[in-house]
Amino acid sequence: MVAKSLLALSFGAAVVLGQESCPGYSASNVQQTGSGLTADLTLAGEACNAYGTDLPNLTLTVEYQSDDRLHVLIADQDQAVYQVPNDVFPRPGSSGDASTNSSSLRFTYTDSPFSFAVARADGETLFNTSGTPLVFESQYLNLRTSLPENPNLYGLGEHTDPFRLNTTNYTRTIWNRDAYGIPAGTNLYGAHPVYIDHRGASGTHGVILLNSNGIEVKINDTAGQYLEYNALGGVFDFYFLAGPSPVETAQQIAQVVGMPANIPFGGLGFHQCRYGYRDVYEVAGVVHNYSAAGIPLETMWTDIDYMYSRWIMTLDPERYPLPLVRELVDYLHQHQQKYTVMVDPATAYQPGGDYGAFNDGVQQDVFLKNASGDLYVGVVWPGPTVFPDWFAPQTQPYWDDQFNSFFSAESGVDIDYLWIDMNEAANFCNYPCSDPFGYAEENDLPPEPPAVRNSSPIALPGFPPEFQPPSSSAKLRLRRQDGAGSMMGLPGRDLIDPPYSIQNAAGSLSNKTLDTDLIHYNGLAEYDTHNLYGTMMSNHSRNAMLSRRPQDRPLVITRSTFLGAGTYVGHWLGDNISDWPHYRISIAQMLAFSSIFQVPMVGSDVCGFGGNVTEALCARWTMLGAFYPFYRNHNELGSISQEAYRWESVAESARRAIDIRYRMLDYFYTAFYEQTVNGTPSLNPMVFLYPEDAKTFAIDLQFFFGSSVLISPVTEENGTSVDVYLPNDIFYDWNNGFSPVQGSGQTVSLEDVDFKTIPIHIRGGTILPLRSQSANTTTELRKQSFQIVVAPGQDGTANGSLYLDDGLSLEQAATSYISFTWDGSMFSMSGTYGYEAGVNISTITVLGASSQPQSVTSNGADLSATYNSTTKVIDVEVNIALTGDASVNFGQVATFRGAAPSAASTNVLLLALSVVTASAMCLLGSW
Ligand SMILES: *[C@@H]1O[C@H](CO)[C@@H](O)[C@H](O)[C@H]1NC(C)=O
Ligand SMILES: *[C@@H]1O[C@H](CO)[C@@H](O)[C@H](O)[C@H]1NC(C)=O
Ligand SMILES: *[C@@H]1O[C@H](CO)[C@@H](O)[C@H](O)[C@H]1NC(C)=O
Ligand SMILES: *[C@@H]1O[C@H](CO)[C@@H](O)[C@H](O)[C@H]1NC(C)=O
Ligand SMILES: *[C@@H]1O[C@H](CO)[C@@H](O)[C@H](O)[C@H]1NC(C)=O
Ligand SMILES: *[C@@H]1O[C@H](CO)[C@@H](O)[C@H](O)[C@H]1NC(C)=O
Repeated sequence: MVAKSLLALSFGAAVVLGQESCPGYSASNVQQTGSGLTADLTLAGEACNAYGTDLPNLTLTVEYQSDDRLHVLIADQDQAVYQVPNDVFPRPGSSGDASTNSSSLRFTYTDSPFSFAVARADGETLFNTSGTPLVFESQYLNLRTSLPENPNLYGLGEHTDPFRLNTTNYTRTIWNRDAYGIPAGTNLYGAHPVYIDHRGASGTHGVILLNSNGIEVKINDTAGQYLEYNALGGVFDFYFLAGPSPVETAQQIAQVVGMPANIPFGGLGFHQCRYGYRDVYEVAGVVHNYSAAGIPLETMWTDIDYMYSRWIMTLDPERYPLPLVRELVDYLHQHQQKYTVMVDPATAYQPGGDYGAFNDGVQQDVFLKNASGDLYVGVVWPGPTVFPDWFAPQTQPYWDDQFNSFFSAESGVDIDYLWIDMNEAANFCNYPCSDPFGYAEENDLPPEPPAVRNSSPIALPGFPPEFQPPSSSAKLRLRRQDGAGSMMGLPGRDLIDPPYSIQNAAGSLSNKTLDTDLIHYNGLAEYDTHNLYGTMMSNHSRNAMLSRRPQDRPLVITRSTFLGAGTYVGHWLGDNISDWPHYRISIAQMLAFSSIFQVPMVGSDVCGFGGNVTEALCARWTMLGAFYPFYRNHNELGSISQEAYRWESVAESARRAIDIRYRMLDYFYTAFYEQTVNGTPSLNPMVFLYPEDAKTFAIDLQFFFGSSVLISPVTEENGTSVDVYLPNDIFYDWNNGFSPVQGSGQTVSLEDVDFKTIPIHIRGGTILPLRSQSANTTTELRKQSFQIVVAPGQDGTANGSLYLDDGLSLEQAATSYISFTWDGSMFSMSGTYGYEAGVNISTITVLGASSQPQSVTSNGADLSATYNSTTKVIDVEVNIALTGDASVNFGQVATFRGAAPSAASTNVLLLALSVVTASAMCLLGSW
């Protein structure tokens, strides 16, 4: 209790005191097992009880799970302490043949005071807890690892701090929170206690702490560089991943948190949403306006505006009457477009009425309850609300029923994709929310809906003529339908105000969310499981989407996430603001989700959610967003309209950016598919592809879309230039006819980047399958032929791949996976060819060629080739079916230091030199 009372005096001092005065543990009874060891850890002295009571007896379990993964679990011997349930986070298995000897990691320990270290077989120490005692208390865990100076650490999110984390006086709080404006340095919507530590030539590794309690990670360089975990409960459940490259580390993370779910091809199309479309006519008008502006719109979205009084699973009968919504959805489907709406977990508290979602839930006992057995009531959009308890087994069938009825293809709102929000869970009412009814009333919840149109709807040319004004007989669509325990956490804890306070930006743990002393249906406390709520809703919602369309791959976009969420859903990065800092930080955020957290379907609201965007920012953002995996324009009620057609410059930037994105869509879909198979990131921070180039370590304003396409957006307000770092490698400038650019490991300034242009460079050594032209929808896009772009690397060779499937089905009857190679003179493809693409390769384009090839042949037949001596590009017309292996021989064509005959090699070198000069000039703005 001494330390606890000191807390009041000095927060920082108490932490140090807590540690120094705590006795630590000693290890005994060490047993070697086939795959590691176990030991007893016993409290090594007088309990310090710094923030709870010290647990006297712990168990250490060390398991070499594969040659590159080590599992270290420190838990209470009684197994009474809460652990993340296996059915929420399925544990990775052990590969079986892993052992101490074959592993590339080494676990060592000191028995008293107990500490442990993890090193690579080559001797590099990755993690070392010696120096501070391990603290394991009823409501507080503390463990510190020393690190090398100035470490390159990434992850520990969700956050809006730099991609490479600060290392001095830095706190990362992990406690999911409704975080309007996504402020830097605070806890946001997702809980991903995983980091990557990159040490240049000494390799990269990853560390996952599987713990869903509130966590504060402190990174500091006083008393040496360290990283320290402070957790409010749970156990130390570590996975150490050996790397040694960043990409391998990402793959190893995926092996633990689960391979991400694949998405429908159409999900990669362009999406439009906003909060505040006052009725179905306005939504229809937006669809029409996109069409009229010639901007491809794949999916139209509707925010909570569609609901009656913000009640989930209802329609506003006057503004969004069912027949008209169905007509809109039919219209979209007939035009190969899609429809998506938002669903929140918070369900209007409406006892005694005929609100189906509420009545069914009460009858089936799916809502969270207070200790008294009464429904727990908070306040969200509809006013007083109840919240589904995802731990109750009956909640899944309940949720399925709600979806099958409200989102029925025959009689309901036949959505294609789903958006789930407010699932941290958000609660507007401050803790303690003793009077939710009063709070709702004071805060005008639900808000007054906009006035109903009293005249005929605005004329919408092109919209179905049978579109009728709402009939006065339309009724509120309410459903009436009949319907339907160890490691639970230590007793006696203070589940509301734990002795240790994490720096939750919402204040106390329960503020603006569910009360942390709520006990779930299965006995688990919200205190322990808060960070799981959004991911459990994700899982249930994905299942519910599958129950209504069992054949289709779901696309569900959630706000709140935990480790492993990517196996079910994608994520949008929440309520950002329409300003330049948020435009810039979106890159670091999406890189963290895609390349570290394994939630690769990710993006920020294009043009920003809160506040009013400027034309210039919206033009730039629309181009940057074209290289987010999840590409959606969305904004807030009360902000100015920001659909891409609102300004001619933005419309033009949208048309051009979508054109490029769509031509690259199969290339990106292939990268995404590869991530679902083995965790290889589909977006790459520069450090991932140039891990030994120290200048890349902190870059988070440039990134690779896939592993071949470098995106370098303009990042300054009203700027038309951008500083671009090009590693020492060969690139090809998309915006300059694919001209070669030799990177020199320097930052160069690209000038005159107008508001319709985003700098794009193809990395040498890669082959891109592009569609030869874009289309208005992804369905039409898939009818276009392919153009294969060969971008030779510094050694003259290149390779790439193309994955093809129907883009829709959960289970694919037949897929194709084709590998492309370029050896310097020959283009070859080989692979499996199950999927009938229905289109051929129509062009092969070879970049960086020094001359026109003398002949290009395939199966002995001459093909016609054109050569552009300015851009150094060869285009060859071909007609190659995607049904079998093929090759095209370019003979003696020289590309950069290519595998060309020796007579040509002088020329090649000269060419390389001349291009260096030319590209330097180009980058200096002379071209
Ligand atoms: C801890 O272990 C010791 C030695 O096995 C035993 O005597 C003691 O009762 C245990 N304490 C608790 C609280 O389980
Ligand atoms: C970093 O260390 C300094 C000096 O001990 C301390 O004042 C500060 O609170 C520490 N910061 C964090 C985030 O732990
Ligand atoms: C550490 O950061 C906190 C806030 O983030 C600040 O108040 C404090 O002054 C900083 N301490 C040092 C030693 O820099
Ligand atoms: C991280 O470091 C940068 C640069 O020193 C600083 O501006 C920023 O405030 C720091 N962020 C946090 C959350 O400490
Ligand atoms: C809850 O949040 C509100 C709004 O930010 C704040 O004013 C209040 O002090 C917080 N209450 C607690 C108990 O943290
Ligand atoms: C955005 O513009 C609207 C309309 O001009 C205005 O009412 C609103 O206050 C503006 N919002 C902000 C945050 O400036």
